[in-house]
Amino acid sequence: MTVSLKGRNLVSIHDLSREEFFQILDTADELKRKQKRNEEYSPFKGKNLAMIFQKPSLRTRVSFEAGMYRYGGHAIYLGPDDIKLGKRETTADIARNLSRYVEAIMARTFSHARVEELAKHASVPVINGLSDKLHPCQILADLMTLREKKGKLDGLKMAFLGDGNNVAHSMLYGCAKAGVHLSLAVPKGYEPNPEILAEARADAATTGAELVVTHDLAEAVDGADALYTDVWASMGQEAEAKKRHEDMMPYQLNSKALAKAKPDAIVLHCLPAHRGEEITDEVIEGPQSKVFDEAENRLHAQMAVLVQVIG
Ligand code: CP
Ligand code: NVA
Repeated sequence: MTVSLKGRNLVSIHDLSREEFFQILDTADELKRKQKRNEEYSPFKGKNLAMIFQKPSLRTRVSFEAGMYRYGGHAIYLGPDDIKLGKRETTADIARNLSRYVEAIMARTFSHARVEELAKHASVPVINGLSDKLHPCQILADLMTLREKKGKLDGLKMAFLGDGNNVAHSMLYGCAKAGVHLSLAVPKGYEPNPEILAEARADAATTGAELVVTHDLAEAVDGADALYTDVWASMGQEAEAKKRHEDMMPYQLNSKALAKAKPDAIVLHCLPAHRGEEITDEVIEGPQSKVFDEAENRLHAQMAVLVQVIG
């Protein structure tokens, strides 16, 4: 049975039912197959996506833009100096203007409240392309990749090392929906937002996923099917980089950590990677690393979201 996501926003994975979550993943797999077969498919013919960026991006921008074009549509890049989100006019006015021109809006913002405000006032779907709190598109691609590599999600174990940040938050929500056990190994003071953890645990109660926050890296990686890490200083936290580096060094994803996981564990990283910091060159370039398949899957996962919400 299919569920309709037409007209919906993707601000957080928490807002999706388990059925909706898997429908997006299944659509992503189908789009990937179509693309590999070079099948002609133009669901976005004549349709436009506005992309608001308050921060830099490689993967998010290019995967949305290339994906829209590939499927017959068009994407409009609005960088920090174009519409000056939050400076030139109200966010509500921006949302209402853009809704008259485009079929969907993607936004990468500093404050999460800004994406929520866009979603509140837009009459077209709003997709969160990363906020300080969440990164849902990333986690859809990550769990798509994990399923692709392992043939299932239910009952797998993922270990996330480093910072309890936006990516970790969406990973909590995503693993909870998917039935994937998640252990976050973070230094003291870098734990995930307790409200997000509580919400994800409530979701996890229905899927059996165990969500653990620990300061013990060995405990987190023990028997893991996937190891994940992200930068230690997220965009906007550059001033804290030195302190974060010192605090998080014991949580580096290196060959010692990898050796404690299952022998066939895969390595994921949302990228950009800082080799020698959160991950070693050896591990990211090693045979267990699937980071470029993961990056490719951003395109398929995001186009799946758009097919579902604007279709
Ligand atoms: N992973 C990710 O979102 O990459 P960009 O910041 O380059 O978009
Ligand atoms: N946590 C990182 C993710 C980058 C894709 C950041 O917010 O900068």
